[in-house]
Amino acid sequence: MNKKVLVTGGTGYIGSHICLKLFELGFDVYIIDSFINSSHLNIANLKLINTQKKKNFNNKIHIIQGDIRDKSFLEKLFIGIAKKNKRFYSVIHMAGLKSVTESTFNPLSYWDVNVNGTINLLDVMSKFDCKTIIFSSSATIYGKSKKKFLSEDLPIKPCNTYGETKATIEKILSNLFFSDLGKWRICNLRYFNPAGADPSGLIGEKFCLNPNNLFPYLNLVAGGKKKFLKIYGNDWPTRDGTAIRDYVHINDLAFGHILAMNYLSSNKSQILNLNLGTGNGNTVLEVLKTFQKVNNCEIKYVFKERRIGDVTSLVADNSNLKKLFNWSPCISLSDMCRHSWNWFIKNKSTL
Ligand code: NAD
Ligand code: UD1
Repeated sequence: MNKKVLVTGGTGYIGSHICLKLFELGFDVYIIDSFINSSHLNIANLKLINTQKKKNFNNKIHIIQGDIRDKSFLEKLFIGIAKKNKRFYSVIHMAGLKSVTESTFNPLSYWDVNVNGTINLLDVMSKFDCKTIIFSSSATIYGKSKKKFLSEDLPIKPCNTYGETKATIEKILSNLFFSDLGKWRICNLRYFNPAGADPSGLIGEKFCLNPNNLFPYLNLVAGGKKKFLKIYGNDWPTRDGTAIRDYVHINDLAFGHILAMNYLSSNKSQILNLNLGTGNGNTVLEVLKTFQKVNNCEIKYVFKERRIGDVTSLVADNSNLKKLFNWSPCISLSDMCRHSWNWFIKNKSTL
């Protein structure tokens, strides 16, 4: 019998890539998603990728539309699994809102969805004795650290509402772990900057005409949908004045979840905080130049004021993740740019 994994937010950008890996590895995948920031197309395409690979899978993807803030909805799902005398091997919790800028204007939604939604989920998991969880945390919780490489033991000092919700969820998970010693297996994966798409070009980050993040915007400019990229700040204390981030390919990131899940399941109860990034930082201008070069396109840009909530540099010290899981990033920045563009070209008609 295949192991069952529950993925909240599984039809979103990161979730769909994780589900693809889970599916390929033979897990039965249960996805909960409200579809507030995703579409059924990602699911149809997940299935298509598998068909194209001509593998004869006997495992299944179950899509359950609903909101993690709705406790009775969550309970129904867990009751259904318990009735079959089964339980989830692990939960990968990604459902949530993720825009830093939006969170500063709309804090109540962020606290409600991210924090209340997580409390509901944990309560139901606890009730049904399902106590293994991987949580999508973020490097934004380190705030304005002056360190070149951010290690997990640095102070948690988020400087935006979104980051505060992530830090709070980590705190709740820690409280839960210590309230019920020996039972929970928890891994907070602190993502740096996920980028790129599956090379098939069939799943990727949902488009909108006014995205907040760098990669979607690069595609829009290269694809002629926007005139230029606004680069937020050319006066950061970096090698070219633009801010540094640690961009990690979405499939490397997804694989980190599989390793985390297997590690938790085969080791004693514990709570882990782990950075998930490559350990290499690139400036906005370096990313832009790489994107132009590998995709043979032109990206016009203008410099603008720094964006509220932004920081100079966020680069992972990923030594713990490497040591514990033997994880290392395999996919380059050039390929992130190629795959991101490939996804855009194949899907721009959905804009
Ligand atoms: P995404 O928006 O593509 O995916 C989130 C999914 O959650 C979406 O499919 C959305 O419909 C769903 N969702 C939102 N609210 C929900 C609710 N109340 N109930 C059920 N489903 C709900 O975002 P993503 O980039 O795939 O991010 C996934 C997770 O990783 C998020 O928790 C995000 O905060 C975290 N994260 C993302 C990044 C990044 O740069 N993309 C970085 C660090 C952490
Ligand atoms: C942010 C959050 C991260 C969150 C992620 C997803 C921080 C420090 N990090 O990442 O936790 O999960 O968003 O929403 O808050 N840039 C431009 N022009 C643009 C877009 C971006 O110059 O049009 C610059 C930004 O200033 C930044 C870099 O590109 O320096 C990357 O930005 P972005 O892709 O938005 O990611 P972060 O802000 O690092």
